[in-house]
Parts: sequence; structure tokens; C-alpha cells
Amino acid sequence: MRSASILGWSAGIAVVLIAAGYGYNYVDAQRQVAIRAHLLTGGDPVRGWQLIQNYGCGGCHTIPRVPQAAGKVGPSLKGIGGQVYIAGRLENRPENLIAWVQHPRAVDPLTAMPELGVTQPQARDIAAYLYTL
Ligand code: HEC
Repeated sequence: MRSASILGWSAGIAVVLIAAGYGYNYVDAQRQVAIRAHLLTGGDPVRGWQLIQNYGCGGCHTIPRVPQAAGKVGPSLKGIGGQVYIAGRLENRPENLIAWVQHPRAVDPLTAMPELGVTQPQARDIAAYLYTL
């Protein structure tokens, strides 16, 4: 009886410790993703997340972890960080992603993505968020 309950307690404690360790690693991994995105772009991914909502990018794009961003006009931005090209036109490098977000029609006047009046520092923050995806 007693050894069974000790066994039960140890199993419970082990589960809690593993869960805590997992939670810690998850937060740690998310933090590293954010730091990497900042180093790539010089932008702030949290501000970028907010700006994406202010500019309504989610009306046209599906964007992970952005509320109401389920648009189907343009491509989903899930995994954009790992893509080889941006919009099939520019090599996927931070300065090109920033340029695209700021002035898509300077890249291609016929693109359906509109000029939204995003400033350069804002495009930098937005690119930082996109590189966390
Ligand atoms: C009116 C709809 C619309 C809005 C609003 C819009 N986009 Fe787009 N976006 C598009 C379309 C359409 C494309 C595909 C363009 C192309 O290939 O010419 C695109 C392409 C992109 C791409 C390249 C995707 C890829 O897979 O290569 C990125 C990045 C992007 N948009 C980011 C944004 C961001 C950030 C915002 C908000 C600041 C935004 N878009 C707002 C329609 C939109």
C-alpha cells in the first residue's frame, strides 16, 4: 500500500518536473527565434506583430499567431522565413523582405499587393515578425 502511494507520488512529481522543463524549453526556444529575427532585420518582432494588425495584412494573408489573419487574396505567410524567394521575384534576404513590404509595386507594378504606406522602420519591424514564422 505505502510503496504504491510513494510510487504514485514520484510519478506525479516526475510528470510535473518534465512539464515544467518542457515549458521552460518552449519559452527559451521562442525567445531565441525572436532574437534571431531581430538580428536579421534590426526590427522588433513584437511591434511588427502589432503593425501587421494595424495595416490589415491579415485581410489578404493567412498569418500564424495574428488574430483574424485568415485572408486568401495573397499567399499564406506561414514559413515565409524558410522560403527561397519573396513573391517569386526577390531572393529571400532581410533587405529584400523589408523592401517588398514597404514598396511591393516598386518591385512589380502589376502585383496585386497594394502600397500601404508602410514606413521603412515599420517594414523592418514587420519583417522581424515574419522571420519568426
Ligand atoms: C489587398 C491584399 C493584400 C494586402 C492588404 C497585403 N498583401 Fe501581401 N500580398 C498580396 C498578394 C496578392 C501577394 C502576392 C503578390 C505577387 O506574387 O505579386 C502578396 C505577397 C506578399 C508577400 C510575399 C509572399 C510570398 O509567399 O512570397 C509578403 C511577405 C507579403 N505579401 C506581406 C504583406 C504584409 C506584411 C502586408 C501588410 C503590411 C501585406 N502583405 C498586405 C496581397 C496583399
